[in-house]
Amino acid sequence: MMAILIDGKQTAADIRAGLKQDIASLVNECGKKPCLAVVLIGDNPASQVYVRNKVAACAELGIESREVLRDASITEDELLSILAALNTDPAVNGILVQLPLPKHIDEKKVLYSMDPAKDVDGFHPFNIGRMMIGDTDVFLPCTPFGCQELISRVMPDTAGKHLVVVGRSNIVGKPMANMMVQKNRNANCIVTICHTAAPDLSVYTRQADILVAACGVPRFITAPMVKDGVVVIDVGMNRIDDVANPGKTRLVGDVDFDAVKDKALAITPVPGGVGPMTIAMLMKNTVRAFRIQNGM
Ligand code: GUN
Repeated sequence: MMAILIDGKQTAADIRAGLKQDIASLVNECGKKPCLAVVLIGDNPASQVYVRNKVAACAELGIESREVLRDASITEDELLSILAALNTDPAVNGILVQLPLPKHIDEKKVLYSMDPAKDVDGFHPFNIGRMMIGDTDVFLPCTPFGCQELISRVMPDTAGKHLVVVGRSNIVGKPMANMMVQKNRNANCIVTICHTAAPDLSVYTRQADILVAACGVPRFITAPMVKDGVVVIDVGMNRIDDVANPGKTRLVGDVDFDAVKDKALAITPVPGGVGPMTIAMLMKNTVRAFRIQNGM
């Protein structure tokens, strides 16, 4: 059996096209453009690429972006005062601080200082907490939000399905599990979060009707770890040496795609799966912030 390839690139393009139309009519109505502030500290090459892609998506959709680029030597206080200014700037609807931050800066302190109404990444504990208790009018963290959207394309009714998340990060694993266990969303799953402390992870992964791999280990999920007919969402973005092209690197996921695709009902590729969805959902959250802040 060859799995359905879940085309995140196309799905994200469709979502962006819909948002572009929404934005055009919002701008027409109120004469202002949505604005996203993107804060990047230091010169982490992966973060630079992510930020460039986020800024490009804003330009494509008619969202203004304000890039705040600072050297890694910035102090925590300086960064906190940048955020305080963005929080009170009425022209800024959404704020994103690209992670990771340099080690000398307390990431939590920075994220907690953000106005939850502008937290389009959905990382502020106020938004996470409200999401966890089932509120639906919150900013959902963009990567799990995008994963949920992809799952719904191949499995419109997930009620009672067993979703297994490998990885417990605050950005993906924990919010993913919380979103999918909710009764009042397109979710209602039985959920397991598992991680590397398990002596044998396949005990859990083999039970999955939907498997979300977000552990950050290249090709960690192998064919014997999944059951036939599983829906696989691969959040991994691992850069490894490309053996076919010495001196070059390539991007692979947390799933051994070539082997797992023969057992799966549906699977996301890397690249072209979850990655583009994260940005599309960030744009969606930004438009939502703009609407709310303008009473629209
Ligand atoms: N670093 C890795 N993923 C993300 C994300 O979704 N948002 C931010 N701000 N930083 C990240």
